[in-house]
Amino acid sequence: MAEPTTTLKDNAACGTKPAPPCTLVIFGAAGDLTKRLLMPSLYNLAGAGLLPEGFSILGVDHNDGTDEGLRDSLTKALEAFSKDPTSEFHADRIDPKSWGFIRDRLHYLKGDFEKPETFEAMAQQISGSAVFYCAVAARFFGTIVDGLGQAGLLKQDGDHFRRVVIEKPFGSDLASARELNARILKQGDESQFYRIDHFLGKETVQSIMAFRFANGLLEPVWRREYIDSVQITAAETVGVEERGKFYEPTGALRDMVPNHMFQLLCMVGMEPPNSFDAEAVRSEKAKLAEAVRPIPREDAVRGQYTAGTSEGRDVPGYRDEPNVAKDSVTETYIALKLHIENWRWAGVPFYIRTGKRMTGRRTEIAVLFKPAPFKMFEDTPTDDLGPTVMRILIDPDHGVSTEFNVKVPGPQMKIGRVRSGFRYKDFFADRPNVGYETLLYDCMIGDATLFQRADNIEAGWAAVDPLLQGWPQKDVAFYPAGSAGPKEADELLARDGRHWLGLDGETD
Ligand code: BG6
Repeated sequence: MAEPTTTLKDNAACGTKPAPPCTLVIFGAAGDLTKRLLMPSLYNLAGAGLLPEGFSILGVDHNDGTDEGLRDSLTKALEAFSKDPTSEFHADRIDPKSWGFIRDRLHYLKGDFEKPETFEAMAQQISGSAVFYCAVAARFFGTIVDGLGQAGLLKQDGDHFRRVVIEKPFGSDLASARELNARILKQGDESQFYRIDHFLGKETVQSIMAFRFANGLLEPVWRREYIDSVQITAAETVGVEERGKFYEPTGALRDMVPNHMFQLLCMVGMEPPNSFDAEAVRSEKAKLAEAVRPIPREDAVRGQYTAGTSEGRDVPGYRDEPNVAKDSVTETYIALKLHIENWRWAGVPFYIRTGKRMTGRRTEIAVLFKPAPFKMFEDTPTDDLGPTVMRILIDPDHGVSTEFNVKVPGPQMKIGRVRSGFRYKDFFADRPNVGYETLLYDCMIGDATLFQRADNIEAGWAAVDPLLQGWPQKDVAFYPAGSAGPKEADELLARDGRHWLGLDGETD
């Protein structure tokens, strides 16, 4: 195969122009999300020349503060993150020109999100287009949108736009998600709300659509006749650590499934949209999510990690993490079997698992193809003709890899298993990216493709709602930290004559 070309590399970094002039209002300017992800993303966007001259940032928070104070604290945070190996942001040095562009445009407004005065003061400062980013705890989402609406800040005309970015979690079950949707839609039009799911900011997730729909090879076999099952995994080695307060009432199901895991499910299972227009794509995704049969309890396993060894060090069990009850039954792991009730996928199980403190870090979608129709190799010396498995690697590897069977060289007809694949880094230049750049930019240019529409969100909650309502909480299986999850999750697949793919490499 030819060497990667510079044309490919060039293509990866071009083709966009600066966003239109606007003010980015960040609620929660002193918060972790602002420091850890939003500022590095804006810095990267400035470095790529994608922010307009007429860009400004208004940080809002409840502490006393000044423009200069905000500038200093965010500069320090950016420098600290650039040196922190666990941070998403990597930079040998902060480029003074790019950061100067952001820094000079930072302003601060002290305000209580629950008080109309905050929004009235804001209205005095904003005249043209604006994006309001709710980088705050979920309980403030509705309050902020009400405040914006009541102060007239969501009124737009032909000359300027007003958009609101809402973080996750969007609701905590179907009823609360519906309630929040109804509440915000009283203040503005659906097209003004950008419900974020950071999985859609991952390059590899965005490229699933291109992989499926830009290659004629895949589409004919991407269906029930050829696919045995699909496994979607988001396994993490990290524990709950400092997030006990948030995690205790949330758990792995709410934290990961109706949002992130469903986004992966929709990408891999949706029908080809008529175009890459936002509404066309989002309609297909919503259609797929709505086709998921509500999940019965017997198709789900909840797990919680106990003390164990993770990446070579002893780690405590979930119940010994800070801000976690000693008798907590919150799940840190969930495995599910899903049925998609449509023409393409009827009868193909989609297995989903996600958990903390697992043996390896892998986010991937594995598509397992049906065996060859005729067992002509029955008498050949081979233990098992494993299925052809195509893995879409999302994290930490980025690429696609396929495992299949070949003849082992030699006089006998012996079958062996091989793997072939590609990694993005071998073909494309690595661009500075903490994961929010595309999302912020898209919101500013008004492209909602990578954001969740109200129906998409509600469909995700509807599928998991039977599990959230009335599942006895004590029904939790334990697994040691550093393992592949509880044995009950293995039994979920064993019942169907299948098993989970390994987490520590690309073989099963
Ligand atoms: C977040 C969850 O939304 O996603 C976290 O709240 C989880 O619990 C994280 O760790 C996973 O995201 P990523 O990008 O690290 O795979």
